[in-house]
Amino acid sequence: MSFAKLTIRDVPVHDKVVLVRADYNVPLMGGKISDDLRIRASVPTLQYLREQSCKVVVMSHLGRPDGDTKLEFSLAPVAERLSELLGVEVRFVDACYGDKVTQAVKAAKSGDVLLLENVRFHAEEEANDSTFAGKIAKSSLARYFVQDGFGVVHRAHASTEAITHFLPSVAGLLLEREVTTISHAMEDPERPLYAVMGGAKVSDKIKVIEAFVHVADKILIGGAMANTFLAYKGYDIGKSKAETDQQETLDAIYEAARAKVGEAGVDDFIMLPVDVAVAGEISPEASRRNAKVDAIGVDDIAADIGDLTIERFSHELAHAKTVVWNGTMGLAELPEFAHGSARVAMTLATTPGMTSIVGGGDTADFALKWDGNGGRSFTHVSTGGGASLDLMAGNKLPGVEALLEAKK
Ligand code: ADP
Ligand code: 3PG
Ligand code: MG
Repeated sequence: MSFAKLTIRDVPVHDKVVLVRADYNVPLMGGKISDDLRIRASVPTLQYLREQSCKVVVMSHLGRPDGDTKLEFSLAPVAERLSELLGVEVRFVDACYGDKVTQAVKAAKSGDVLLLENVRFHAEEEANDSTFAGKIAKSSLARYFVQDGFGVVHRAHASTEAITHFLPSVAGLLLEREVTTISHAMEDPERPLYAVMGGAKVSDKIKVIEAFVHVADKILIGGAMANTFLAYKGYDIGKSKAETDQQETLDAIYEAARAKVGEAGVDDFIMLPVDVAVAGEISPEASRRNAKVDAIGVDDIAADIGDLTIERFSHELAHAKTVVWNGTMGLAELPEFAHGSARVAMTLATTPGMTSIVGGGDTADFALKWDGNGGRSFTHVSTGGGASLDLMAGNKLPGVEALLEAKK
């Protein structure tokens, strides 16, 4: 499938000032960047523009500062990391519009990169305010706007939507790669296509499972998502984390599944754990004990899929040609409860000829750490959480819709 939007390769950016939206919403611990996937992923577009002798002005959000200048959400540490990755000094400007920005752009040379301060220090950003977007466009002196922040294109904000009304707007290379890879996996996949869903953001993601019923050949469910399904099916899940207000969506999921595969095939199509690894408390010292799903104690907390389920899931997954994985199988940040997620990662990484797409903040983080090789064991590790899920669910992405159409 060809990409529907113009990209930086299609327009004469040579020697121009270009305003780039990146998603540098990276996890920070004690002021330090704990995972730089999103910064590394932005490098190809920035390099391309530098090679085209552009002056590159980059903007992003970080965290949710709610329209206030909260310096713990400053993008200054990102400028430092980006300088290291590009091998040139990235000048940080502590404003996202106004005279400071204009002067910095004027002082820059061809091939220089500037990073502006967090656009969410202004409430107008999330309000998709047109005047604010106009000020950014004008003070940057840019001739083009480049959207490369795949992780944020599911938001219609000033720096993703309103800005496109001021400048000719095209896609960057990361955006193109993310949208093409994920759309291809969902629209024209090599089958069988299996979806592995887990994690804890049940209400955010459960709607996507409904979409997957139509698209996938099998759905494997772990994590707190599985607890929610087990509770719906009437199992006692003790003190496990689950969301019990999802009755309607679960009814719709099972109704669609019955229509697709028939009553007898439903539990093979939507595969739930047959056992879970439980603990009495969640702590780094806690150890795992396997419990069949009909024998979870009243005080038990299901914190991973159980050993039988791990075998069953990895056996099943080895038959897939395409696997889409979003949501860890358990509390994978604790090694004792990372067994399920590690086996999923291993199966995806080692099955010959398999296309594997890993998405979601915690899931991508886990997969990258497990891999230790920049994620190269997988076909694609997405920089998007909500954006990748919306794309897979077939929802429109406002930040992509707003870009110029490619010529047919
Ligand atoms: P992602 O960030 O990949 O989109 P989520 O945020 O939905 O995924 O889920 C990841 C989180 O889910 C992790 O913090 C993990 O600890 C938690 N989690 C997974 N399984 C369970 C479980 N059985 N009980 C409680 N939390 C869980
Ligand atoms: C993300 O991390 O999913 C994106 O950067 C969007 O952030 P948001 O959920 O705060 O809009
Ligand atoms: Mg998460």
